[in-house]
Amino acid sequence: MILKRHYQEIGADQPISSSELPSGSSSRVQDGEEGGNSPVDGLSCLANYGAEIESPIITHGGGAYIYSESGQRILDWTSGQMSCLLGHSHPEVVEVIKAHAESLIHTSSCMVSPPVIRLAKRLTSVLPPGLDRALFLNTGSESNEAAIRLAKTYTGKFEVVGLGQSWHGMTSGAQGAQYQAGRRGQGPPFPGQHMLPQPNAYHSIFRHKDGTYDWEKELNYGWNLIDQASCGAIAACLVECVQGDGGIHVLPRGYLKALKRHCESRGILLIVDEAQTGLGRTGELFGFEHENVVPDILTLSKPLGNGLPISAMVTSAEIDKVAKEKGFLFFTTHTNDPLVAAVGEKVLEIATRDGLLQNVMARGQQLFAGLRRLKERYGCIGDVRGLGLMAGIEIVSDRDTKEPAKDLAKALSKTMLQRGLWCQLQSQRVFRIGPTLTSTEQEIQDGLDILEEVFSTTAHTQPLCNPGTG
Ligand SMILES: Cc1ncc(COP(=O)(O)O)c(C=O)c1O
Repeated sequence: MILKRHYQEIGADQPISSSELPSGSSSRVQDGEEGGNSPVDGLSCLANYGAEIESPIITHGGGAYIYSESGQRILDWTSGQMSCLLGHSHPEVVEVIKAHAESLIHTSSCMVSPPVIRLAKRLTSVLPPGLDRALFLNTGSESNEAAIRLAKTYTGKFEVVGLGQSWHGMTSGAQGAQYQAGRRGQGPPFPGQHMLPQPNAYHSIFRHKDGTYDWEKELNYGWNLIDQASCGAIAACLVECVQGDGGIHVLPRGYLKALKRHCESRGILLIVDEAQTGLGRTGELFGFEHENVVPDILTLSKPLGNGLPISAMVTSAEIDKVAKEKGFLFFTTHTNDPLVAAVGEKVLEIATRDGLLQNVMARGQQLFAGLRRLKERYGCIGDVRGLGLMAGIEIVSDRDTKEPAKDLAKALSKTMLQRGLWCQLQSQRVFRIGPTLTSTEQEIQDGLDILEEVFSTTAHTQPLCNPGTG
């Protein structure tokens, strides 16, 4: 059976027809048609949340796979929305959840428990000096909300700078610095928001004479515009190291350093959002380590709970102290909750153990070699980009014009799912690929084989040579 709901992030806005159902699926359930014993009973009771979902109903997961109600095994190349970096239901994580559920799930935010203290110590010990105080919340949105508020309190200013096509979350402050979906028709956005151009090496119009991307000119141009627009009260600049939902754009080498210099010269705090890049995804434990830049505030969410809701905001002892003196306030009912902190502690332990980073590098090389081979075979693949085990493939109708091929991308997306591979299609043009960091060589090869099969059997992929001989 197929669950059809709105889910903008995957960009698949048409229902899958019954002829396209995964094998083993026999019927299609529309809202309100559910029968009493079916897992879809009650489907129509779910409220719309503005997005679009098309997938079979998922009943369980294990390692790199999720399984549908009809028994289909699906290789999850999104790691469950970039969160289950160690794989679904990692046995050690499950063990911690069970054990801690029996001892302590929740405390008042005015109390503290051992796993929270241990997680703060473990997390700050793997971060460079300057990131020495941690606050634990639940979602990525909350961590960014807290970071922005901290920057406002510390600096006494209120304007915020973000990057084009960024994604930072749905709460007002985070959404204000997010230049993607959700800005229109939802009431007034936060005042004092500024945007730098998206560092998009594939599409940017800023070019050196030899055609290569001139990100420095673009960045300076952006700050020049912001300096003209700002009322002189910029508190923070919030960025991702690799724009995840924005199309897998890796900040060019030197960009984060240059950004830090721009921030320092204006008395602005640099916030780095590692919701998608944190805990090894890019081949370093944190994405900012590729640049040797220490942000003033770090936010970390999705991977810290391996699927459970825990996020962190980390800053310097000095910022923490000054903000405290100025009356900084940010807490929720679930601030510093013990059960999820115990999970975070275990996840961090595993992420810094077991040769996970080496696996990311090896499997990443395998993945990118396979994706580049696909690009050599199919003209509709305009660009392959990414870092570590985080990859994007952009689908175009023409490599010269780089125009998106949205219908084709949608068709590819549906066929991938039918063949048992789940990659998220973003903005109807870029597949985000984020396999679990524990993926084996065989699992990466299996995913690449499915991609090859899908590209070779879907119309209009513009084969450049005979697949199998090229
Ligand atoms: C980079 C980044 N920051 C923040 C968020 C928001 O996190 P959450 O959905 O947990 O609030 C996301 C979610 O996709 C994200 O990708």
